[in-house]
Amino acid sequence: LGILFFPYFWDSRMSCGYFQHRGVTFPGLLYSPRGLEAAREFPVEDDDVFNVTYQKSGTVWMLEILSLILRDGDPSCAARCPAGSGGPWLETLPGPRILSSHLPAPLFPRAFFNSKAKVIYTVRDPKDVLVSLFPLLADFPALQRPGSLPEFMEKFLRGRRLPFGSWFQHVRGWLQLRGRDNFFWISYEELQQDLRGSVERLCSFLGRPLSPAALDAVVANASFVTMSHNPMSNFSLSPTFILDRRRGPFLRKGISGDWRNHLSPEQSRRFDRVYREQMAGLGVSFPWDPP
Ligand code: A3P
Repeated sequence: LGILFFPYFWDSRMSCGYFQHRGVTFPGLLYSPRGLEAAREFPVEDDDVFNVTYQKSGTVWMLEILSLILRDGDPSCAARCPAGSGGPWLETLPGPRILSSHLPAPLFPRAFFNSKAKVIYTVRDPKDVLVSLFPLLADFPALQRPGSLPEFMEKFLRGRRLPFGSWFQHVRGWLQLRGRDNFFWISYEELQQDLRGSVERLCSFLGRPLSPAALDAVVANASFVTMSHNPMSNFSLSPTFILDRRRGPFLRKGISGDWRNHLSPEQSRRFDRVYREQMAGLGVSFPWDPP
């Protein structure tokens, strides 16, 4: 069962603004320092499956895919349970649980690092993350207004005063875990190019082989068209104080390369310069790497 692992235990210091915690920015409406500390001590079970992303990288998509895989492609829950609805209490959930998180690796539950629990980390072209995040900041009352796109791009590149911190730090931090048996990373772009093949790889990582019919059902129900029409996954049930969708859908376009419609060639070159500096030495190549 998929739930969003927002550490939002109530705390009197919560506010609609942002706060800094261990050097990372968080929105006060959903997070609190106490909740984040509690998350570090979260009791991880060996059969937990964590769906981890930087925001706007395909969190809800991967949550849907994982929920479908663990239910052998049965879409009845996807039709009944709102994504990120909070779900039942952790303690009462039968395993395996699926827990989603945007936390950077250094703030993740400590117990994970000595457990057999699995993390699936989905990463997306940061220029597309930027153009997907930009309109959301205007619609999400818990987040600060982004200013103009050029202003927001600078903020994104600096990674300060940005929910969940720097994209570069987030990706670098998590990808340091590659090579571990319980860590699997995939790009949004791979999901798009070959959803069926990606689901097969996920099934093998999860040790959950699916019949061809179940695989077909996962692919069909995790398509952009199906998810954007499903009120349980398109966030149309969210209260407006959480997400004001009057300005546009949460599942906006679901494509790769939309940044080309928003960034000028000069802005793209500036982005690439910072990208090269920030990603130097990581030793991973991505389909969006600048030449
Ligand atoms: P766009 O804003 O570019 O459309 P997150 O869940 O991490 O917030 O990511 C949201 C992004 O994932 C949105 O991107 C959304 O449309 C996209 N997305 C969600 N479900 C998808 C699907 N089934 N296929 C393709 N993209 C999907």
